[in-house]
Amino acid sequence: MGNTIKTGIIGGTGYTGLALLEVLVRHPNVELGFVTTRQESLSGEYVHREHPNLYGLSDLKFSIYKPEDPSFKEANQLLLKQVRDSDVIFLGVPSGVSMTLIKDFLDTGTKIIDTSADFRLRDPALYKEFYGRDHPLPELLKDFIYGLPELHREEIKNAKYIACPGCNSTAMILAGYPLTKIENLDFKVTYTIMTGSSEAGSEPSRASHHAERSGVTRPYSIKEHRHLAEVRQELKLPPLKVGVSMFAVPMVRGVECIGNVFTNRPVEEKELWKAFRSAYEGSPFIRIRARKTGGPGSLPDTKYVRGSNFGDVGFFLDEKHGRIGVLSAIDNLVKGDAGNAIQSMNLMFGLNETTRLKDMVPSYLFE
Ligand SMILES: NC(=O)c1ccc[n+]([C@@H]2O[C@H](COP(=O)([O-])OP(=O)(O)OC[C@H]3O[C@@H](n4cnc5c(N)ncnc54)[C@H](OP(=O)(O)O)[C@@H]3O)[C@@H](O)[C@H]2O)c1
Repeated sequence: MGNTIKTGIIGGTGYTGLALLEVLVRHPNVELGFVTTRQESLSGEYVHREHPNLYGLSDLKFSIYKPEDPSFKEANQLLLKQVRDSDVIFLGVPSGVSMTLIKDFLDTGTKIIDTSADFRLRDPALYKEFYGRDHPLPELLKDFIYGLPELHREEIKNAKYIACPGCNSTAMILAGYPLTKIENLDFKVTYTIMTGSSEAGSEPSRASHHAERSGVTRPYSIKEHRHLAEVRQELKLPPLKVGVSMFAVPMVRGVECIGNVFTNRPVEEKELWKAFRSAYEGSPFIRIRARKTGGPGSLPDTKYVRGSNFGDVGFFLDEKHGRIGVLSAIDNLVKGDAGNAIQSMNLMFGLNETTRLKDMVPSYLFE
C-alpha cells in the first residue's frame, strides 16, 4: 500500500453510511471504491440521490450487495472482489446484521471496521444479557479491538478488526474514564443521557415520527441501556457500580451525558484536574471544559461539538452533597460513530489520527 487507502462502505444509505461518506469523500488519503445498498431502485444511482448534501462532492454510485438473494449472485461476487482489492472496509449496517455478513468478508483478508454492536463486547455472555441472543461467532470477539482511540490507541494501530463504540457508550466512557486514573478511589456512577433523534437510524417508526418526536423530552430505557455493557467493560466496573437513564430530547444530532458519582472518600478539585489531564494527554479530540464561572462553554454542551469529532468532557464538585459530576458532549454520528471509525482507520494505516477529521469545525449556529 502506498499513501492511498482503498476502501468501501457496506450499508451506505443509512445515517452511519452518510456520516462515513461525509468524511471519506474529502479524505486526502482515501480512495472510496464502493458503497452498497440492498435497494434495487438505487443500484447504479449516484450516492447524492439518497444523500442530496453530497451533490457535487462525489461521483460514486451505489452497488447492490444482497448475499441472501441468489438472483444477485454476480453482483455479490463482484462486490466481494472489490472487498478483496480494498485495504479496509467499513460496515454501516444494523447490529445483528454485521455478525451475519462478516463471514464472507473474513475470507478476503481485508481489514474491517464495524460500526455495529456485534463485536464490541469481549464476553459473549454479555450478548445474551444485553441483546437477548447468543453470539453466533464468540471465538471472533477476541480478534476485535474496541475502536475508541482515547483508550486503545496503540492496539488500534496494529489491529485488523475494529468494533467501534456506541454513541452513548462513547459519551459515558469519555466522561467516566478519568476517574479510573485516581488512586485509591472506589466509586459508583449513575449516568443520565440526553440524546438526539438521528441516534435511532434512518428507518422510520411511530416513536421517530415528527409529531411524536418533536418538542419532546421523553424518558426511555430508564433503568438500563444496551450500551451500559460497553461501559462496564471499558471502565472495568461491576454491574452494581454503574447505571444509566436515557432521555430522547428535541435535537437531531448530539449526546449530552452527566454521571453522578459517589466516592469512598472526599476528592479534591486538583485531583480531578490531574485525572482528566492525564487521561487525555495526547488525545487531540478531547477538550476539557470545567469552568466554575458558568455560562456557555463552561461545561460540555452538544452545541459546541456538533458536526465535529470533538469529545468535550468536564466535571464539577458538589461538596455540599458529597457528589462529583462528570460530563461529556459528543456528536453521535461523528465522535459517537463515523469519527471513531475514521480516527481508527487513520491510526491503522500510519496516518496522523486527526487527518481530515481536524477540518470538521463544530458549527454551533445550527438548529
Ligand atoms: N445512528 C447513530 O447515531 C449510530 C451511532 C453509533 C453507531 N451506530 C451503528 O451504526 C450502524 C448503522 O446505524 P444507522 O443509524 O446508520 O442505521 P440506518 O440509518 O438504519 O442504516 C442502516 C444501513 O444498513 C443497511 N441494512 C439494513 N439492514 C440490512 C441487512 N439486513 N443487510 C444489509 N444491509 C442492511 C441499510 O441499507 P439498505 O436498506 O439500503 O440496504 C442502511 O444503509 C448500527 O449498527 C448502529 O448501531 C449508529
